[in-house]
Amino acid sequence: MAEPHQSRVYSDLARFYDFFFGRVFVDREHEVIESLNLRPGNRVLEVGVGTGIALDAYPPYAHIVAIDPSASMLKHAAEKVKENNMGHVELKIGDALNLDFPDNSFDFVTSFHVLTVVPDPYRMISEMVRVCKPGGRIAMTTHFQSANPIVALANTLVNPITKLLGWSTRLRKQDVLKGHPITLERNGKVSPFSVHTVIIARKNS
Ligand SMILES: C[S@@+](CC[C@H](N)C(=O)[O-])C[C@H]1O[C@@H](n2cnc3c(N)ncnc32)[C@H](O)[C@@H]1O
Repeated sequence: MAEPHQSRVYSDLARFYDFFFGRVFVDREHEVIESLNLRPGNRVLEVGVGTGIALDAYPPYAHIVAIDPSASMLKHAAEKVKENNMGHVELKIGDALNLDFPDNSFDFVTSFHVLTVVPDPYRMISEMVRVCKPGGRIAMTTHFQSANPIVALANTLVNPITKLLGWSTRLRKQDVLKGHPITLERNGKVSPFSVHTVIIARKNS
């Protein structure tokens, strides 16, 4: 296996995902979604929903479309939707790099810990921006390569291992955020010692 998106974690090992990864990510994803202050009738797209650990943070008065290319991950998300009566959530097979939605069709586009998984993260952000309405918001959590040269070297050294597990540690923030018609509203570590960053951006009107 060569690339993160081909990791078995998102196919054969989906049933273990929540135990090993979900509980590390869930609180921050909920905090980010709650900070968006969704309004009744808002349409939200979540890209790379996986097993659906964030789904119960969306209010029932919004309509959520959530996509992922992995049928195994979506099966677990579907169980959560059913168990929690989340009739406002629609799950679909889909690819972040070719979003099957018209331009300007969602009020919010979210994605948590997917940017380092896809083979073309710049295109993923372009697609998220394309389907977001002007004035709408894009929210992501992700890991970026450190700006500190020593930590960046460590990122490079562990990358062959993390790629096998399902993510890259070499994504550079400046490479993926520049050139989109967006204005950053939040751009910082989830907490002082965390390796993860929260990005919230508004699509320019
Ligand atoms: C680290 S998991 C994150 C899942 C979920 N967002 C969460 O926070 O638990 C990465 C997810 O990205 C999905 N993924 C991989 N390639 C993708 C693509 N091209 N488009 C959308 N999602 C993709 C995987 O199937 C997996 O569910």
